Amino acid sequence: MERLDKILVSQNICTRKEASRLVRQGLVTVDGETAARSDIKVDPENSIIKVRGQAVDFKKHIYLMMNKPAGVVSATEDNFDRTVIDLVPERFRRAGLFPAGRLDKDTVGLLILTDDGDFAHKILSPSRKVFKKYYAELDSPPDESTVESFERGITFKDGTTCLPARLELLGGARVNVYICEGKFHQVKKMFRSQGFTVKYLKRVAIGSLELDKKLHEGECRELSKYEKSVIFISK
Ligand code: URA
Repeated sequence: MERLDKILVSQNICTRKEASRLVRQGLVTVDGETAARSDIKVDPENSIIKVRGQAVDFKKHIYLMMNKPAGVVSATEDNFDRTVIDLVPERFRRAGLFPAGRLDKDTVGLLILTDDGDFAHKILSPSRKVFKKYYAELDSPPDESTVESFERGITFKDGTTCLPARLELLGGARVNVYICEGKFHQVKKMFRSQGFTVKYLKRVAIGSLELDKKLHEGECRELSKYEKSVIFISK
């Protein structure tokens, strides 16, 4: 059970102050009864709350897929740059919304945003082995020896070791890389350690969830229940 005003605020319907005004004006009903006060306790999952006659589609958490463009940072706030949160349309905004993992400012592609910390942790924890698939363009073509180095596990100059990763050669300097951890600049550093520079990097899948090709850069949409589940299924 939760306070009615808190529920309305959590669903981004209004502020706490507006909630108490709406209730005073008799514009909020719970299971058909006009709410008497804004602090009454309600079970949001099993009650029908209506504001101005319109039912509130209660969601405990929100899960978004974004096609991140270049030039924005994967953070909730930044003093200099636009953040991915700035790109989220008002209807999807929630207190506590954050990107589940970071893409560099110049990296594009699939980013998940949520206000569900446990869900984000499950995606990011290397022990869960949720592979993230990146498409990359390098400054020169790699060969089988690079594939083998990735498979063995790369070690950076500072001694940091990476878990084994899969590298698919696509012809020329184009590759797909699959990693299940998220060290800072990991893909770029893995290639750097082998003498390559990444010229373009795009995340195209997380687990079996692929970036929706219809989603333009900068756009986001809600994930379906099915899409949420396939994140945890390996390809
Ligand atoms: N690896 C990188 O180097 N950059 C990213 O943005 C993601 C993975």
